[in-house]
Amino acid sequence: MNKKINTIAVCGLSWGDEGKGKITDYLAQKSDIVVRYNGGNNAGHTINANGIKYKFKLIPSGAPLEKECVIGNGCVVDPKVLLEEINNLKKLGINVNLKLSSTAHVIFPFHIALDGLEEKSKGEYKAGTTKRGIGPAYSDKAGRWGIRIFDLIQPEILKPKLEKLFRIKKKLIQTYDPSWNMDFEPMFEEYASLGEKLKPYVTDTAYYLNKEIDSGKRVVFEGAQGNLLCIDHGMYPYGTSSNPNALGISAGTGIPPKKIGKIVGIVKAYTSRVGEGKFPTELFNDTADQIREQGHEYGTVTGRPRRVGWIDLFNIKYGIMINGIETVVITLLDALHGINPIKMCIGYELDGKRLESWPIQHEIIEKCKPIYREFEGWKKLTSNEWSELANQGYDSLPETMKKYLQAIKEELKIDIAMISLGPNRNDTILLDNELF
Ligand code: GDP
Ligand code: IMO
Ligand code: MG
Repeated sequence: MNKKINTIAVCGLSWGDEGKGKITDYLAQKSDIVVRYNGGNNAGHTINANGIKYKFKLIPSGAPLEKECVIGNGCVVDPKVLLEEINNLKKLGINVNLKLSSTAHVIFPFHIALDGLEEKSKGEYKAGTTKRGIGPAYSDKAGRWGIRIFDLIQPEILKPKLEKLFRIKKKLIQTYDPSWNMDFEPMFEEYASLGEKLKPYVTDTAYYLNKEIDSGKRVVFEGAQGNLLCIDHGMYPYGTSSNPNALGISAGTGIPPKKIGKIVGIVKAYTSRVGEGKFPTELFNDTADQIREQGHEYGTVTGRPRRVGWIDLFNIKYGIMINGIETVVITLLDALHGINPIKMCIGYELDGKRLESWPIQHEIIEKCKPIYREFEGWKKLTSNEWSELANQGYDSLPETMKKYLQAIKEELKIDIAMISLGPNRNDTILLDNELF
């Protein structure tokens, strides 16, 4: 029997950019609240709705529908970026219903400076970060001298804490780059004023969310990044500094695990990755260029061309285990059109032996050879034709695409709840009416 659920989580199962923004927006139609629980403005979530292309970095993807949006305590917040996003939405005439956790951590200019300098000094071990200060801000959180939103909005609390932190960070930055300079007072004044502007949104979001969920409100938890970028369970050190998977939801919101009703894994029909770190199914040929162009695979935040390759069901199986995924959504199927054959990785071989489990250590992954199945592709259509097929439903899809989807289902031993055939909200086929 289906348990009645009123909360659902959207988690990327690969290296990010799986289409979480689009799917969150779709699910937001039937929800009251959308919550971000990890990451910061390293995320770039795209939503195409009402003829507008929104690109959100911090604001949860419930904003276009004017849903209640919550930025949880697990996030790191650059106040300038958040205020800019709020203002952009206001300019579009959208009501911004935002609640910002008082215990989320703040990104300062010295975090951004350190991000670039630390990357440089790491050489081959650099992750290719977005240089938004994410890692250094989470480092300070773990080091227990980070500044939280609660501090930011109270200048008398902010000043002594920030001064201490700033003095140390300045020394550290100058060991990397002696020419770096910044004065404390103007920075403090600027951030105190940013805090003042954010004050109206600040809330004890753990209490708020628990109360709303207990009263039956419908909530979507929106992950940023993807499982393989997880600081604990991803391809360390080539990942981000938070838990982007379902494991991060409770810590990043204050919602206990038992209140998370369902966890949906978002899977791209192929693989993409920005930044450093090898992946076994990566392509370096004309097919890669074709997929990149057809999928518009350029970073939402940094504009970097994304690296692309075949779908990797071995690492997705790992993601299903780590996230406790019950059902998946397959996105960007249209972007594979005209490619023939299409390959699907179903396992890895190392030294002539097939591996039982995904080898989390990058030194091992780099030596693995993917084991592939091959599929006949489907023909190229215009975006309008794809929208039309989405409108007509599953039966209208090319037989070759249905075979590809059936194989994903069988290999993963999991149901597909939804498929996505284009960037717009309606370019979507819901296969499981009970999804949410
Ligand atoms: P996120 O970070 O997981 O939210 O994903 P991004 O927004 O960074 O990247 C996904 C890109 O694919 C965006 O440009 C979306 O508009 C687009 N997109 C999402 N789903 C589909 C789809 O099914 N087909 C196509 N062609 N584009 C899609
Ligand atoms: P969304 O939410 C893809 C990658 C960076 C880099 C590594 C660490 O849009 O899926 P960071 O700036 O977090 O310290 O960078 O993680 N990365 C992402 N890749 N999508 C993202 O977010 C990402 N956020 C971070 O490229 O390799
Ligand atoms: Mg993205």
